[in-house]
Amino acid sequence: MSGDKLDGAKRLLGAELASEVVSGMVLGVGTGSTAARAIESIGRRIVDDGLSVKGVPTSQSAERLCRAVGIDIVSLDGVARLDLAFDGADEVDEDLRLIKGRGAAHSREKVVASAADRFVVLADYTKRTQKLGARMPVPVEIIPMAVGPVQRVIESLGARAEVRQGTGKDGPTVTDQSLWIIDAHFDVIADPERVNAVLLQTPGVLDHGLFLNLATEVWFGEADGTITRVARRDD
Ligand code: 5RP
Repeated sequence: MSGDKLDGAKRLLGAELASEVVSGMVLGVGTGSTAARAIESIGRRIVDDGLSVKGVPTSQSAERLCRAVGIDIVSLDGVARLDLAFDGADEVDEDLRLIKGRGAAHSREKVVASAADRFVVLADYTKRTQKLGARMPVPVEIIPMAVGPVQRVIESLGARAEVRQGTGKDGPTVTDQSLWIIDAHFDVIADPERVNAVLLQTPGVLDHGLFLNLATEVWFGEADGTITRVARRDD
């Protein structure tokens, strides 16, 4: 029953996002089950309303979904700015800081979100948190030969470092960039800015799943079937 409620929240978020899309927009297209609901809703508007949009996908799986529903694929080579990027999240705190990357797509997701004028995060009611890191690890995408040194840096930050294992195969998860993921398990992240800075300075790290100043809006799909929109305060 609660699975139905969760799925309903994701569908509602997807439909609401699609209702704000207009023809001619270039979209950043996120990865995960909530972003997939938005892609499907955009697809329905392509059929029903003759909507015509282009999209930069954040993963191979998002690209396949875009192609299936009729969103034209473009790359950031030919597009200076995106009108609107949308994506899901694994945790969202009160300052609209995020943990992303359960789908191991966070490095591309960050590039796409950074190129957007508006980055809307679609978060069901389970994603709110007081402190980042309380439930979800921070994924760190690395080149495989750097696994030992990067694990030690993560441990020096107070986290447990675990190489993410693939499903349906033996061995590590391999990302769309053919890299690996180390999941950094914190109790809570006391200083996200410091974790961000240290990880980005660590050789062998491509990027990590902390999104600190990127979300311009978070839309929460509530358990009661409503949506709460929260916009970033620029103060
Ligand atoms: C993928 C992501 C997803 O957006 C995030 O994991 C949320 O997924 P879902 O909408 O399925 O809960 O960051 O890398």
